[in-house]
Amino acid sequence: MRLDKAVSQVTDLSRSDVKKAARAERITVNDLVVTDAAAQIADSDLVCLDGEPLQEPGPRYIMLHKPLGYVSATKDSEHPTVLDLLDEPNKHKLHIAGRLDIDTTGLVLLTDDGQWSHRITSPRHHCDKTYYAHLAERIGDDAAEKFARGIWLDNEKKRTKPAKLEILYANEVRLTIGEGRYHQVKRMFAALGNRVLELHRERIGDILLDEELEPGDYRFLTAEEIASVH
Ligand code: URA
Repeated sequence: MRLDKAVSQVTDLSRSDVKKAARAERITVNDLVVTDAAAQIADSDLVCLDGEPLQEPGPRYIMLHKPLGYVSATKDSEHPTVLDLLDEPNKHKLHIAGRLDIDTTGLVLLTDDGQWSHRITSPRHHCDKTYYAHLAERIGDDAAEKFARGIWLDNEKKRTKPAKLEILYANEVRLTIGEGRYHQVKRMFAALGNRVLELHRERIGDILLDEELEPGDYRFLTAEEIASVH
């Protein structure tokens, strides 16, 4: 692989930054200064920048408190994205394990470990997600039973899987679902003639949104949180 590509993949430097760093004699390969950023290097070569060895970092696992107005995408021409909230090198390598709508707040997980995020998003793994919802109308007494039985959503061939509804106040609920269809929570309440005014994700599997995180804040997951997704 070319030196500039190898260095830019594991640092925040663009290829032209790497070229400048090489010309400034900041890069060594196997302890020899290399000034040509186009030089070919092998996987086994030890590349250092300013004397520090460059290594592919291990997988990263991040929880973010998504604020209103941010899209769960890595790029968007109109709105800020959840990636804009991260101050991390190589953040474009991270992906989102379960998106939230632009007007939904709460727990978003980001990682560069595709197998781990698959266990969260794949319908086969039934990873529960818990949402707090503030509704436009009072919730009916029979709603919990309807959610437990499964709901027919518009344009869907199958009922939703059994979901657990906890009524907190007349128009505030906590809902736990094991799947992640398009706008699922809003569509479930719409199917009962209600409307979600505010939606906030509190939990994914056994991972709870850390109460210390203000909207827009993030932190790395603990080893225990990472291991809880299996
Ligand atoms: N269900 C929704 O309708 N919106 C979300 O953002 C998440 C789940």
